[in-house]
Amino acid sequence: MRILTTIAEAQAQPHAKRRVLVPTMGALHKAHGELIRVARKTATEDGEVAISIFVNPLQFEPGSDYEHYPRPEKADENFCRDADVDLLFRPSVAEMYADERSVFVEEFFLSNTLEGKSRPGHFRGVCTVVAKLFNVLAPDAAVFGEKDFQQLVIIRRMVRDLNFKIDIIGVPTVREEDGLAYSSRNQYLNLEERKQAAVLHKALQAAANARRKSADDIIALARNVISEAPLARIDYVELVDAETLQPVQMAGSNSVLVLAVFFGKTRLIDNIRLA
Ligand code: PAJ
Repeated sequence: MRILTTIAEAQAQPHAKRRVLVPTMGALHKAHGELIRVARKTATEDGEVAISIFVNPLQFEPGSDYEHYPRPEKADENFCRDADVDLLFRPSVAEMYADERSVFVEEFFLSNTLEGKSRPGHFRGVCTVVAKLFNVLAPDAAVFGEKDFQQLVIIRRMVRDLNFKIDIIGVPTVREEDGLAYSSRNQYLNLEERKQAAVLHKALQAAANARRKSADDIIALARNVISEAPLARIDYVELVDAETLQPVQMAGSNSVLVLAVFFGKTRLIDNIRLA
């Protein structure tokens, strides 16, 4: 596995092989492993799998967990080696962002809702760093998780609108045994919060199995299940169209139930596609 830390090194190595990129912020877990597995499959035998690990300050709002975000460097490196990654790109903040930077990539429609509303500036940070990673590593394809559903939709839009010649591949959410979606932030949860967080998937499943199909009913049902967990504090529960992310009145094959819920200080997001 090659480890690169500078943009110059990364751009000095033109690649003939099909390259598939998995962008991450590290603290790698089973779901990242699944993204790497999908990347390997997509790269085919003669292709290469690249992973980036960069805790991107631009996508953390002021006062959020940027400083405390886990950075287990050695464990992440071993994880990548064991997962048979070909190239690890691990730049510093100074390498990625010049002090006098003044160009950003911003999406102006899909970013105004859900996570974008709760976390102003977040998707500007995500789009900017992902566009930079695309330019630095020049992948043929890139893999993203459906857990961060809005992020995936916005990246697809950025690729379309800015004409990146990169296939975007979505990977279904990977869950722990009790249904909680893997997330680097799960390690912030204390034992009791962790136990109660299983209610999120329970709520999503109840909503997906509901016979009543109006958004109001489905949202009320999901909220009701979540309220079984005394430590849960809902940020939002919404039923939206999978492409436009705008609220829908009735559940259909193109609607997604999305939610963000706090357990203590930890904010978890999850979603489910409705039939
Ligand atoms: P990070 O949270 O490290 O996630 C990296 C990738 O793993 C994302 O595409 C995310 O959707 C995916 N992922 C995380 N948990 C998952 C799960 N349980 N199931 C499926 N996929 C999962 O997302 C980011 O980093 C950053 O915003 C990034 C895109 C790297 C830009 O900085």
